[in-house]
Amino acid sequence: MSLLNVIKEKSNMMMPEHYKKMDRREMEERVKEIKELLGKKLFIPGHHYQKDEVIQFADTSGDSLQLAQVSALNKEAKYIVFCGVHFMAETADILTSSKQQVFLPDMRAGCSMADMANIHQTERAWDKLQSLFGDTILPLTYVNSTAAIKAFVGKNNGATVTSSNAHTMVKWALKQKQRILFLPDQHLGRNTAFDIGIHLSEMAVWDPNKNELISEGKLEDIKVILWKGHCSVHENFTVQNIKDIREKHPNMKIIVHPECRREVVSLSDDNGSTKYIIDTIKNAKSGSEWAIGTEMNLVNRLIQQHRDKHIISLNPHMCPCLTMNRIDLQHLLWNLECIIEGHPINRIQVDGETAGYAILALNRMLKLA
Ligand code: 13P
Ligand code: SF4
Repeated sequence: MSLLNVIKEKSNMMMPEHYKKMDRREMEERVKEIKELLGKKLFIPGHHYQKDEVIQFADTSGDSLQLAQVSALNKEAKYIVFCGVHFMAETADILTSSKQQVFLPDMRAGCSMADMANIHQTERAWDKLQSLFGDTILPLTYVNSTAAIKAFVGKNNGATVTSSNAHTMVKWALKQKQRILFLPDQHLGRNTAFDIGIHLSEMAVWDPNKNELISEGKLEDIKVILWKGHCSVHENFTVQNIKDIREKHPNMKIIVHPECRREVVSLSDDNGSTKYIIDTIKNAKSGSEWAIGTEMNLVNRLIQQHRDKHIISLNPHMCPCLTMNRIDLQHLLWNLECIIEGHPINRIQVDGETAGYAILALNRMLKLA
């Protein structure tokens, strides 16, 4: 790439200063006008962890599975402005046609968990695991992973997984092969495998930095190999948080996301995807008390929406997911204005070969989910 193009690309990533000084009302009006102007040509999916200032403009909001499903179904939008994180926009690009363009309002909106596994580490791990176990492993990847890893999984007959279908997918995978490699979230993998009756001694951890398998049991007994990755938001919920709630609020129910550690999930009353948490709170009795272990934008929204219930965060010192929070009203407006001015920016485009294999993994999940 020429120096001029590098400079152009870098300056594309930097939002012009004037957006930072704009009044919120003015920005909201502009977004509304652009949405009206583009009509069905524009589609804005938003993940439940997005800020209120952004989610108010989402055409649909959902958990990772719902957002993948709506992206696959939408055939009419030319521009898909994804309010979520990078891997979600990549998934949307893979699942939509080549006539549709996917954008991420701020390219810095990544996911620290997805960054914990890259394709080189994955290929290296696979070679070593094949030499240890032979052709007995099926790879499964949480959607919170790069397109390259989804492609690797697709090529090796595996599938993607979300927090709302992990049980179905792990059961399916263990019917295909004797064992699974679960990337990149060890906690979702462990919690799911445990729930379907796999003993902790039948699980091992793959450390991608040391390139080694950590196992306490016998090698031949291993059914689930967990990639040593985690969500930096959900790791902040602790056993101590649970003890504190049980002591201070004995009638309070605790519900957490399965990205939390095993100890936290096992001491909670319930766990599930963001959609599951939302539905549980919606259907709970008026006056009921809840401590929620998930991202703060969602917890705060649930507090606002259910004034008749007593809702708090499981960890009183939690912050929102930093990368989800990169998408703000300024970046959304900037992205939309660039589209209508005819010079769209921050397009997410997965190359054809990678997308061709990744869609195999995604479709295996979408068929079963
Ligand atoms: P879900 O919305 O699918 O539960 O995913 C949570 C999450 O951490 C997304 O990054
Ligand atoms: Fe990634 Fe965790 Fe943020 Fe979800 S909440 S985007 S898994 S860092």
